[in-house]
Amino acid sequence: MICLNSTLLTFVSNEVCIGLYTITASCGNEQRNAKMFKTIIIILIVVSMSLNWAFAQKGQLEVTFTAVFINEETGSKGGMNGDPLYPEAAILDPKLTQSLPPNVTASTGLDALAHALEAYTSTQAHPISEMYSLEAIDLILRNIRAAYADGRNMEARSNMLLASLLGGKALAMAGVGLVHAMAYPLGGMFGIPHGLANAVLLPYVTEYNLIGNLEKHVNLASLFGFDTRNMPLTEGASMAADGLYQLNMDLGIPATLADINVAEEKIPEMADIALTVARPIENNPRQPSRDDIIAIYEYAMNG
Ligand SMILES: [Fe+2]
Repeated sequence: MICLNSTLLTFVSNEVCIGLYTITASCGNEQRNAKMFKTIIIILIVVSMSLNWAFAQKGQLEVTFTAVFINEETGSKGGMNGDPLYPEAAILDPKLTQSLPPNVTASTGLDALAHALEAYTSTQAHPISEMYSLEAIDLILRNIRAAYADGRNMEARSNMLLASLLGGKALAMAGVGLVHAMAYPLGGMFGIPHGLANAVLLPYVTEYNLIGNLEKHVNLASLFGFDTRNMPLTEGASMAADGLYQLNMDLGIPATLADINVAEEKIPEMADIALTVARPIENNPRQPSRDDIIAIYEYAMNG
């Protein structure tokens, strides 16, 4: 009953599911509590492109079977997967996102982009997941600046919600990658919102990943509007990272980890935690060593 009361209070404040996740995490019986979750959550109303909290988060809530928790003792995040976590229905109403401030519009929208992009370059990607990924990426790149510039733009808000859902479908099929693995300790150790952590890391990790799949990164560059037809593959692929750096700049995302108060001396510990996020790292198109992850953090620390 305590669980139910907490959940209902959470719903009143529109912070859908957060109370329930905290409780199910502490109950220690993932399977049983996932079933309990299923009996309670019937319809989810999406209030942002993804959900950002310091202590728990469920990315692309409306269409995936994953919930993510932070272990407050270790600072690490961990996921819980299970079919019962799928909601019965999702309502995506852009009016409910209208009051999101620009910075949250940017970071949650970029988290949705990270889902679609990482699913696209995932080693688990397949033609069906790629369709969802590419449509989501295209929609986000065409609409996120407008949604950020004027939150009242309902067409842009609506397209972002649709893109978020499509990216979530891609994520559910192909998974995420190294960006999400490296973002986990930023949330756990420094309380940085999930979307913001992913947004800051996305260009840096993409730059690292380029050689893992040059053709797909060339395709991504073309979605940014770059004409890569007469370029060497490596040059065309690098424009995907260029596009992401520019996008972050346009959306006011801090350029470096130092800008979001990540402590440089914690990088080795952050790398150790990131390496425990096994599945996203397995999905990544380039398999990183511990030294690679440390080098990416160091590069992202000061740009
Ligand atoms: Fe995410």
